[in-house]
Amino acid sequence: MQERLGEIQNQAKEDLAKAESLEEVEAIKTRYLGRKGGVITEVIKAIPGLPPEQRSSTGKSANTLKQEISKWIEDAKGKFVGKEQASDSKKMFDLSLPGEHKPYGHKHPLTQTIDEIKGIFKKLCFDIEYGPEVEHEYYNFDALNIPADHPSREDFDTFYLGNKRLLRSQTSTVQIRVMEKTKPPIRMIAPGKVFRPDTVDARHASMFHQIEGLMVDEGVSFSDLKYVLTLFAQSYFGQDIKMRFRPSFFPFTEPSAEIDISCSLCKGKGCSVCSQSGWVEVLGAGMVDPNVFDTVGYDSEKYTGFAFGIGVERLTMLKYGIDNIRLFFENDLRFLSQF
Ligand code: DAH
Repeated sequence: MQERLGEIQNQAKEDLAKAESLEEVEAIKTRYLGRKGGVITEVIKAIPGLPPEQRSSTGKSANTLKQEISKWIEDAKGKFVGKEQASDSKKMFDLSLPGEHKPYGHKHPLTQTIDEIKGIFKKLCFDIEYGPEVEHEYYNFDALNIPADHPSREDFDTFYLGNKRLLRSQTSTVQIRVMEKTKPPIRMIAPGKVFRPDTVDARHASMFHQIEGLMVDEGVSFSDLKYVLTLFAQSYFGQDIKMRFRPSFFPFTEPSAEIDISCSLCKGKGCSVCSQSGWVEVLGAGMVDPNVFDTVGYDSEKYTGFAFGIGVERLTMLKYGIDNIRLFFENDLRFLSQF
């Protein structure tokens, strides 16, 4: 039996010397020390069957060998664990490997435009205000001096939700909400989405963005309106932008104007975005109608003000030469990643 133990010792030593990985060492451990069928385990189990005079010495030698092999196995494991950790840490700190590319997202071009416009008006001390997209008819029409029979109230111009609620068709609603809760002086802009059941084409979508503006104080005049809007257009498009103020009508302003910007896509020659006219309407504006002041409880003898509404998509299209409004809403990264 002592001879057999000697053979086992040599074999185990040899096996461990050949082992090339942690898994192989684990397999050797099972082969020699495993509870079921392990070589040493079997030897120990066989001791009671030996002649009595051999039992004690064989038992001692078998146990010594068991401890010896256990130690060798732990040493071998240590060798591989150390190696594997070392190669892991090498991987972690290999600065020569190319970095992993994590694509960064960025703001949608329309959000970029809104942010830029907010920045321009903030410099002029305008506050930023927001209002709900689901509105009451009162804020979208009545309080804005829009008569009951006005065509913009028709079903084909407004998305009605029932119970006098609708999807707001303009951000002018926010003027009323702000004036209701604030006394003059007021300087505010209100960016947001608006909704109209328009037929979709290169310039129209059923949801788009506007920025409403309002300034109210004693002695505000049409020249203030012209100054602020010219300053805005020059800041956004550059000093040599061409602007055109056309007399117009809005129920909530008197007098009213529509403001066009020269079409930067065709340089004024005429294209599908400017309906061949060379100009694109980007703003509606005017002096706040006294009826609106009366509705919100402002003294229309004391205060005057101007208001305007900017079309965000139109401005963005003009600035970047985009010829189709649909591109903003298709979520095509080939388009969006250019901004
Ligand atoms: N709400 C108008 C529209 O959607 C735009 C507008 C025009 C807003 C004149 C104004 C304004 O505040 O004074 O067409």
